[in-house]
Amino acid sequence: MGDWDFRTVIEPFRIKTVENIPLLSRSQRVAALDRCGHNLFRLKSSEVTIDLLTDSGTGAMSARQWGAMNTGDESYAGSRSFDALQDVVHRLTGYRHIFPVHQGRAAERILTRTVMEPGQIVLNNTHFDTTRANIEFVGALAVDIPVASAASPAAEDPFKGDMDLDALDRALAEDRERIALVMLTLTNNAAGGQPVSMANIEAVSARCRAAGVPFFLDAARFAENAWFIHTRESGYDSWSLPRIARRMFELSDGCTMSAKKDGIVHIGGLLCTNLDEWAVPFRNNLILGEGFPTYGGLAGRDLAAMAMGLEESLDPRYLRYRTQSIAYFAEGLESVGVPVVKPPGGHAVFVDAGRLLPHIPPGQFPGQVVTAALYIEGGVRGVEIGSLMFPGAALELTRLAVPRRVYTQSHVDYVIEVAERMAKRAEELRGYRIVDEPPFLRHFTATLAPVS
Ligand code: F0G
Repeated sequence: MGDWDFRTVIEPFRIKTVENIPLLSRSQRVAALDRCGHNLFRLKSSEVTIDLLTDSGTGAMSARQWGAMNTGDESYAGSRSFDALQDVVHRLTGYRHIFPVHQGRAAERILTRTVMEPGQIVLNNTHFDTTRANIEFVGALAVDIPVASAASPAAEDPFKGDMDLDALDRALAEDRERIALVMLTLTNNAAGGQPVSMANIEAVSARCRAAGVPFFLDAARFAENAWFIHTRESGYDSWSLPRIARRMFELSDGCTMSAKKDGIVHIGGLLCTNLDEWAVPFRNNLILGEGFPTYGGLAGRDLAAMAMGLEESLDPRYLRYRTQSIAYFAEGLESVGVPVVKPPGGHAVFVDAGRLLPHIPPGQFPGQVVTAALYIEGGVRGVEIGSLMFPGAALELTRLAVPRRVYTQSHVDYVIEVAERMAKRAEELRGYRIVDEPPFLRHFTATLAPVS
């Protein structure tokens, strides 16, 4: 991109297909939220103007990807589309054994069901909730050991996704025999979408190799992580993004990957490894639950789109636009008085609802109050990541996740304006109490009411 030094960061694509977005009146939004028991997961998409619920499976595929879907090979075994995917993933990661699966948690299910036993331990910077649930389902223990700065929203450290190496050393010294696996989640979604440095991946890898413990990446947002290494870590600005990504993967023994994020597909995932002794049970379990190893729960056309998406996500023009537009979003929110987790991560802006609404205690869910207020003000849908999702959570946040290549800068400006109106009314906003909740993963279906 050499001389491309304009102040204005443009979307590095033009739009060929459009989809109208719903524009509801305030009274329609109030009625919709009431009907849903103030839980935005229960809204219909036709009631949402800007949908920032997740960046998963919500991206816009390129014309190349749509074109490739038309020529996907739907053979049950030995599909040409699998060969193309395998070539791309092998070049990207260096892994020998590559299994497609229908999404990230299918890879987690196969991994946990085949190589984990009750009472074993898995260490991670921070487990994503489906990873934790799959580990706990087999009776193993999921232990989070992020660096301390991950818990300080205002700390500007460049790699708040890193693992705490002292905690890893202690665990390896005390509990080596019980540790089934060490994982690093790139980027650390549950802790603000913060990246992990190459130095930290190297240090974790060296310790695991010395101790003989397998080390996997949760690589859902590998491309955004590679970009942050390229731009924030000294020594890597001269490395190409594919070279950085390859190095990250080569330091590990395998990965689980939801391709619905940086793979930029609507459905798809991967389970990969270099461990021959794990590849055999992976393959057998894959056949049991997902399908033949050359399609793994997907259509041939999905494999074709995934192969292209994985390559497109490492385009520096795209990653520069993506990360800078998230930073623009975060700065815009701060400028209108809405505090956010810093520095901005790769896929979302996290509003510090606890700080915005100090008059609302954690037990009345400030993150959910912000989420509901953004919907009432302007039809924006985010998701609470705080005491409603994780009882006893350290931070009360609202995540505004940005789908890939979907919204333009004017959409972001609109959300900032909506947030400004919400922040002006902050003192009037009231907390919530739970009316009805299921026994687990309550945030998806619970109903709430304002406290009187
Ligand atoms: N790992 C991470 C880091 C994730 O963020 C997700 C999904 C998964 C694994 C599971 O992948 O959904 O394809 O089965 N995260 C979504 C989100 C749901 O909104 O952050 P999946």
